[in-house]
Amino acid sequence: MADVLVEAAIDILPMAYAPYSQFEVGAAIQDEKGHIHLGVNVENAAYPVGSCAEAGAIAAMIAAGGKQISRIAVAGRGAELCTPCGGCRQRLREFAAPDMEILVCDDKGLRKMFTLETLLPHSFGPGNLDPVI
Ligand code: THU
Repeated sequence: MADVLVEAAIDILPMAYAPYSQFEVGAAIQDEKGHIHLGVNVENAAYPVGSCAEAGAIAAMIAAGGKQISRIAVAGRGAELCTPCGGCRQRLREFAAPDMEILVCDDKGLRKMFTLETLLPHSFGPGNLDPVI
């Protein structure tokens, strides 16, 4: 049986707003309670203002009261794997443990699984801001 999170990322993919890159991305986050939150990339005529699918899914999770990312599926087409960009790896880091699973998919299904730690080693997170005592 297909993974519900993978299916959710693939299903939301066509809702992306990507008229400039034509590169649609869908993201589905499962939070600590098992709830699923969706996001797509939303581009803008002022290019740098566009946002990634992962950022949208994180915003949806926080707005719904979710606290922690248990898993994320990211779906995007193309020959290369649609791994989260550097900025999104850091965004995910804020709400996820090092062993959080990142399921990289295309529009047909799962292609490869990573942990956050693999994609963002030696990362900087909330704990790094703890004062020295
Ligand atoms: N994009 C994402 O949504 N997530 C990523 O992690 C990689 C890139 C989007 C941003 C932009 O709209 C398009 O893909 C091409 O870079």
